[in-house]
Amino acid sequence: MIRCPPVDVLTPAGVPDSAGVLARALVDDPGWIYVFPDDRTRLPRMTRLLELTIAPYVDMGVSYAAAGAAAAIWAPPGKHDLPITTQLRLFPRLAWLVGRRVRAGLRVFSAMSAGTPEEPHHYLSVLGVDPAHQGKGLGAAVLAPTLARCDDARELAWLESTNPKNHTFYRRIGFEVAHATAIPGGPTVTFFARRPR
Ligand SMILES: CC(C)(COP(=O)(O)OP(=O)(O)OC[C@H]1O[C@@H](n2cnc3c(N)ncnc32)[C@H](O)[C@@H]1OP(=O)(O)O)[C@@H](O)C(=O)NCCC(=O)NCCS
Repeated sequence: MIRCPPVDVLTPAGVPDSAGVLARALVDDPGWIYVFPDDRTRLPRMTRLLELTIAPYVDMGVSYAAAGAAAAIWAPPGKHDLPITTQLRLFPRLAWLVGRRVRAGLRVFSAMSAGTPEEPHHYLSVLGVDPAHQGKGLGAAVLAPTLARCDDARELAWLESTNPKNHTFYRRIGFEVAHATAIPGGPTVTFFARRPR
């Protein structure tokens, strides 16, 4: 049996490891397949894209990881959208990685942005458990520190999912469906909210 590593605050030094974990976890997600339909190049492109996009969130200090096994990338209230300067800095590299599917990527990004609530919330940007470690409770463990913070501060937690397979998991840890948006020809984005306990 593979031992699960401990959960710690994710620091900038851990970004490459977590990007790899998240890409392996999400490689079969309908949302990611829609943006990166080529099976051969999806994993390396996702890994690089995640490395670029999770780094600004990790700097906010509320993301957690179990090295080599799981990562949960969060933004605290008021930080859901990255600053426009960061978005502009990242855009050329992201567009290059997505290539001809840039419009598909923007459709997913726009659908997610349009569904954001006005109420202050902690935002779960990305969650993943490496396939070798799934089904052992590590997903809940890596979310626990930030969910505890939400409960203590009486704050909402918010996320989007493009994979119906993980809905049972989210319901089990206290999230409920808020609403959903179907992208024509693409995945359905389901928004989940968790009230503090
Ligand atoms: C969803 C996920 C984070 C749950 O973490 P975990 O440590 O595997 O979860 P737990 O052991 O606490 O619970 C298992 C539950 O996770 C869900 N799950 C298990 N494998 C899954 C997979 N490959 N994809 C999606 N959900 C999965 C199921 O609801 C499962 O419940 P069940 O055992 O009653 O069927 C993890 O399975 C994962 O990374 N899946 C792929 C990526 C993903 O969907 N990330 C969330 C993006 S919004």
